[in-house]
Amino acid sequence: MAILNKRLAKIVVGLILVITVINLFLLSSNSNNKNTVNHLNQLISSQKSSPKQQSDDNNKYGISIKLDDINLEDIGAKGVPLLSENKHNQNNSTVTEEYSAERHFNSIIENNKIIVFSKSYCPFSKGLKERLSKFEITPELKIIELDEEENGSELQDHVFKQTGRKTVPNLIIPASGLNSIGGFDDFKELNDEQIQKKLNSLCKDTCHLTLTV
Ligand SMILES: *[C@@H]1O[C@H](CO)[C@@H](O)[C@H](O)[C@H]1NC(C)=O
Ligand SMILES: *[C@@H]1O[C@H](CO)[C@@H](O)[C@H](O)[C@H]1NC(C)=O
Ligand SMILES: *[C@@H]1O[C@H](CO)[C@@H](O)[C@H](O)[C@H]1NC(C)=O
Repeated sequence: MAILNKRLAKIVVGLILVITVINLFLLSSNSNNKNTVNHLNQLISSQKSSPKQQSDDNNKYGISIKLDDINLEDIGAKGVPLLSENKHNQNNSTVTEEYSAERHFNSIIENNKIIVFSKSYCPFSKGLKERLSKFEITPELKIIELDEEENGSELQDHVFKQTGRKTVPNLIIPASGLNSIGGFDDFKELNDEQIQKKLNSLCKDTCHLTLTV
Protein backbone atom coordinates (compact mmCIF):
# COMPACT_ATOMS: atom_id res chain seq x y z
CA MET A 1 0.00 0.00 0.00
CA ALA A 2 2.82 2.37 0.86
CA ILE A 3 4.58 1.51 -2.35
CA LEU A 4 1.38 2.15 -4.31
CA ASN A 5 0.95 5.51 -2.58
CA LYS A 6 4.52 6.50 -3.42
CA ARG A 7 3.93 5.60 -7.07
CA LEU A 8 0.66 7.46 -7.11
CA ALA A 9 2.31 10.49 -5.58
CA LYS A 10 5.05 10.35 -8.23
CA ILE A 11 2.45 10.11 -10.99
CA VAL A 12 0.45 13.00 -9.55
CA VAL A 13 3.54 15.18 -9.22
CA GLY A 14 4.54 14.18 -12.76
CA LEU A 15 1.11 15.02 -14.08
CA ILE A 16 1.14 18.38 -12.32
CA LEU A 17 4.54 19.11 -13.80
CA VAL A 18 3.40 18.14 -17.29
CA ILE A 19 0.24 20.21 -17.00
CA THR A 20 2.19 23.19 -15.75
CA VAL A 21 4.66 22.93 -18.60
CA ILE A 22 1.82 22.59 -21.12
CA ASN A 23 0.06 25.55 -19.60
CA LEU A 24 3.19 27.65 -19.66
CA PHE A 25 3.73 26.71 -23.26
CA LEU A 26 0.15 27.51 -24.17
CA LEU A 27 0.33 30.81 -22.35
CA SER A 28 3.48 31.90 -24.08
CA SER A 29 2.31 30.77 -27.50
CA ASN A 30 -1.01 32.41 -26.85
CA SER A 31 0.62 35.71 -26.09
CA ASN A 32 2.80 35.30 -29.18
CA ASN A 33 -0.31 34.78 -31.22
CA LYS A 34 -1.87 37.79 -29.62
CA ASN A 35 1.13 39.90 -30.54
CA THR A 36 1.07 38.66 -34.10
CA VAL A 37 -2.62 39.31 -34.41
CA ASN A 38 -2.19 42.75 -32.92
CA HIS A 39 0.59 43.49 -35.36
CA LEU A 40 -1.48 42.29 -38.30
CA ASN A 41 -4.41 44.34 -37.12
CA GLN A 42 -2.18 47.38 -36.92
CA LEU A 43 -0.94 46.77 -40.43
CA ILE A 44 -4.42 46.33 -41.79
CA SER A 45 -5.83 49.34 -39.98
CA SER A 46 -2.87 51.50 -40.99
CA GLN A 47 -3.42 50.53 -44.61
CA LYS A 48 -7.09 51.20 -44.31
CA SER A 49 -6.62 54.56 -42.70
CA SER A 50 -3.66 55.66 -44.76
CA PRO A 51 -5.61 56.97 -47.78
CA LYS A 52 -7.75 59.02 -45.46
CA GLN A 53 -4.71 60.23 -43.58
CA GLN A 54 -3.06 61.07 -46.89
CA SER A 55 -6.00 63.09 -48.09
CA ASP A 56 -6.10 64.86 -44.73
CA ASP A 57 -2.46 65.77 -45.26
CA ASN A 58 -3.26 66.86 -48.80
CA ASN A 59 -5.97 69.15 -47.53
CA LYS A 60 -3.65 70.48 -44.87
CA TYR A 61 -0.90 71.37 -47.34
CA GLY A 62 -3.13 72.20 -50.27
CA ILE A 63 -1.63 69.54 -52.48
CA SER A 64 -3.19 66.63 -54.22
CA ILE A 65 -0.94 63.99 -55.69
CA LYS A 66 -2.43 60.73 -56.81
CA LEU A 67 -0.40 57.72 -57.79
CA ASP A 68 -1.76 58.17 -61.32
CA ASP A 69 -0.06 61.55 -61.45
CA ILE A 70 3.38 60.03 -61.05
CA ASN A 71 4.94 59.02 -64.33
CA LEU A 72 7.16 55.99 -63.83
CA GLU A 73 9.63 57.42 -66.31
CA ASP A 74 9.99 60.41 -64.05
CA ILE A 75 11.09 58.33 -61.10
CA GLY A 76 14.83 57.87 -60.98
CA ALA A 77 16.74 54.95 -59.52
CA LYS A 78 16.43 56.39 -56.02
CA GLY A 79 12.72 56.95 -56.41
CA VAL A 80 13.18 60.68 -56.52
CA PRO A 81 11.03 62.37 -59.16
CA LEU A 82 13.26 63.96 -61.76
CA LEU A 83 12.63 67.52 -62.78
CA SER A 84 11.91 66.41 -66.31
CA GLU A 85 11.42 69.03 -68.98
CA ASN A 86 7.92 69.92 -69.94
CA LYS A 87 7.17 67.54 -72.78
CA HIS A 88 5.05 70.15 -74.47
CA ASN A 89 8.09 72.32 -74.89
CA GLN A 90 10.21 69.71 -76.57
CA ASN A 91 9.16 70.38 -80.11
CA ASN A 92 6.37 72.79 -80.50
CA SER A 93 6.52 76.48 -81.09
CA THR A 94 6.62 77.52 -77.43
CA VAL A 95 10.33 76.83 -77.74
CA THR A 96 12.21 79.88 -78.97
CA GLU A 97 12.77 79.18 -82.63
CA GLU A 98 15.34 80.54 -85.00
CA TYR A 99 14.32 83.71 -86.75
CA SER A 100 12.63 83.08 -90.06
CA ALA A 101 12.51 86.08 -92.39
CA GLU A 102 9.96 84.23 -94.48
CA ARG A 103 7.63 83.72 -91.53
CA HIS A 104 8.10 87.32 -90.45
CA PHE A 105 7.42 88.63 -93.94
CA ASN A 106 4.36 86.42 -94.30
CA SER A 107 2.94 87.67 -91.03
CA ILE A 108 3.51 91.28 -92.11
CA ILE A 109 1.67 90.84 -95.40
CA GLU A 110 -1.11 88.83 -93.80
CA ASN A 111 -1.77 91.42 -91.11
CA ASN A 112 -1.46 94.63 -93.11
CA LYS A 113 -3.03 96.06 -96.24
CA ILE A 114 -0.48 98.71 -97.15
CA ILE A 115 3.15 98.51 -96.13
CA VAL A 116 6.30 100.57 -96.54
CA PHE A 117 9.67 98.95 -95.87
CA SER A 118 11.86 101.84 -94.79
CA LYS A 119 15.03 102.81 -92.96
CA SER A 120 14.82 105.41 -90.27
CA TYR A 121 17.90 107.35 -91.49
CA CYS A 122 17.14 107.12 -95.23
CA PRO A 123 16.14 110.49 -96.81
CA PHE A 124 14.20 108.81 -99.62
CA SER A 125 12.22 106.76 -97.12
CA LYS A 126 11.56 109.97 -95.21
CA GLY A 127 10.42 111.62 -98.44
CA LEU A 128 7.87 108.91 -99.25
CA LYS A 129 6.59 108.79 -95.67
CA GLU A 130 6.04 112.56 -95.83
CA ARG A 131 4.08 112.26 -99.07
CA LEU A 132 1.91 109.51 -97.56
CA SER A 133 1.41 111.43 -94.32
CA LYS A 134 -0.92 113.78 -96.20
CA PHE A 135 -3.45 110.98 -96.43
CA GLU A 136 -5.69 109.39 -93.94
CA ILE A 137 -5.12 105.71 -94.65
CA THR A 138 -7.41 102.91 -93.49
CA PRO A 139 -6.34 100.50 -92.24
CA GLU A 140 -3.28 102.27 -90.98
CA LEU A 141 -0.13 102.33 -93.12
CA LYS A 142 2.36 99.82 -91.73
CA ILE A 143 5.90 101.18 -91.69
CA ILE A 144 8.72 98.70 -91.07
CA GLU A 145 12.02 100.40 -90.25
CA LEU A 146 14.42 97.67 -91.34
CA ASP A 147 17.36 99.27 -89.52
CA GLU A 148 15.43 99.05 -86.26
CA GLU A 149 14.42 95.42 -86.67
CA GLU A 150 16.61 92.97 -84.81
CA ASN A 151 16.98 90.78 -87.89
CA GLY A 152 16.32 93.53 -90.40
CA SER A 153 19.00 92.62 -92.91
CA GLU A 154 17.67 89.06 -93.19
CA LEU A 155 14.19 90.48 -93.57
CA GLN A 156 15.40 92.91 -96.22
CA ASP A 157 16.96 90.06 -98.22
CA HIS A 158 13.64 88.27 -98.14
CA VAL A 159 11.71 91.42 -99.08
CA PHE A 160 14.01 91.73 -102.10
CA LYS A 161 13.34 88.11 -103.09
CA GLN A 162 9.59 88.56 -102.78
CA THR A 163 9.09 92.07 -104.17
CA GLY A 164 12.00 92.52 -106.57
CA ARG A 165 13.15 95.72 -104.86
CA LYS A 166 16.43 95.73 -102.98
CA THR A 167 16.32 99.31 -101.73
CA VAL A 168 14.12 101.37 -99.44
CA PRO A 169 11.57 102.78 -99.44
CA ASN A 170 9.56 99.90 -100.82
CA LEU A 171 5.79 100.14 -100.93
CA ILE A 172 3.68 96.96 -100.99
CA ILE A 173 -0.06 96.48 -101.28
CA PRO A 174 -0.71 92.74 -100.87
CA ALA A 175 -4.12 92.97 -102.55
CA SER A 176 -2.20 93.65 -105.81
CA GLY A 177 0.44 91.00 -105.30
CA LEU A 178 3.85 91.18 -103.74
CA ASN A 179 5.67 93.10 -106.46
CA SER A 180 7.00 96.43 -105.26
CA ILE A 181 4.69 99.29 -106.15
CA GLY A 182 7.50 101.72 -105.91
CA GLY A 183 10.36 103.53 -104.27
CA PHE A 184 10.60 107.26 -103.75
CA ASP A 185 11.27 107.95 -107.45
CA ASP A 186 8.02 106.31 -108.50
CA PHE A 187 6.01 108.88 -106.55
CA LYS A 188 8.02 112.07 -106.75
CA GLU A 189 6.61 113.02 -110.19
CA LEU A 190 3.03 112.35 -109.07
CA ASN A 191 0.81 114.92 -107.39
CA ASP A 192 -1.32 114.01 -104.35
CA GLU A 193 -4.45 113.24 -106.37
CA GLN A 194 -2.51 110.94 -108.65
CA ILE A 195 -0.99 109.12 -105.69
CA GLN A 196 -4.41 108.74 -104.12
CA LYS A 197 -5.94 107.40 -107.34
CA LYS A 198 -3.08 105.02 -108.01
CA LEU A 199 -2.93 103.58 -104.52
CA ASN A 200 -6.69 103.32 -104.07
CA SER A 201 -6.94 101.33 -107.26
CA LEU A 202 -4.14 99.03 -106.14
CA CYS A 203 -5.79 98.65 -102.73
CA LYS A 204 -8.89 97.27 -104.42
CA ASP A 205 -11.28 97.25 -101.50
CA THR A 206 -8.75 96.32 -98.84
CA CYS A 207 -7.46 99.79 -98.00
CA HIS A 208 -8.35 103.39 -98.70
CA LEU A 209 -6.56 106.74 -98.89
CA THR A 210 -8.24 110.09 -98.31
CA LEU A 211 -6.42 113.38 -98.72
CA THR A 212 -6.53 115.35 -95.47
CA VAL A 213 -5.14 118.72 -96.57
C1 LIG B 1 7.34 66.42 -82.29
O1 LIG B 1 7.97 66.29 -83.54
C2 LIG B 1 7.82 65.03 -84.14
C3 LIG B 1 8.65 65.00 -85.44
O2 LIG B 1 8.71 66.25 -86.05
C4 LIG B 1 6.33 64.77 -84.39
O3 LIG B 1 6.14 63.51 -84.99
C5 LIG B 1 5.59 64.82 -83.08
O4 LIG B 1 4.22 64.70 -83.29
C6 LIG B 1 5.86 66.14 -82.38
N1 LIG B 1 5.27 66.14 -81.07
C7 LIG B 1 4.58 67.15 -80.58
C8 LIG B 1 4.06 67.00 -79.20
O5 LIG B 1 4.37 68.18 -81.23
C1 LIG C 1 2.28 72.97 -77.53
O1 LIG C 1 1.74 71.68 -77.42
C2 LIG C 1 0.76 71.55 -76.41
C3 LIG C 1 0.35 70.11 -76.36
O2 LIG C 1 0.28 69.52 -77.63
C4 LIG C 1 -0.42 72.47 -76.70
O3 LIG C 1 -1.37 72.39 -75.67
C5 LIG C 1 0.09 73.88 -76.82
O4 LIG C 1 -0.99 74.72 -77.19
C6 LIG C 1 1.19 73.97 -77.85
N1 LIG C 1 1.70 75.33 -77.89
C7 LIG C 1 1.83 76.01 -79.03
C8 LIG C 1 2.32 77.42 -78.91
O5 LIG C 1 1.57 75.52 -80.13
C1 LIG D 1 16.63 87.36 -84.51
O1 LIG D 1 17.31 86.15 -84.85
C2 LIG D 1 17.78 85.42 -83.74
C3 LIG D 1 18.56 84.23 -84.25
O2 LIG D 1 17.78 83.46 -85.13
C4 LIG D 1 16.59 85.01 -82.86
O3 LIG D 1 17.04 84.31 -81.73
C5 LIG D 1 15.82 86.26 -82.43
O4 LIG D 1 14.68 85.86 -81.70
C6 LIG D 1 15.40 87.05 -83.65
N1 LIG D 1 14.75 88.30 -83.23
C7 LIG D 1 13.48 88.57 -83.50
C8 LIG D 1 12.95 89.88 -83.01
O5 LIG D 1 12.76 87.81 -84.13
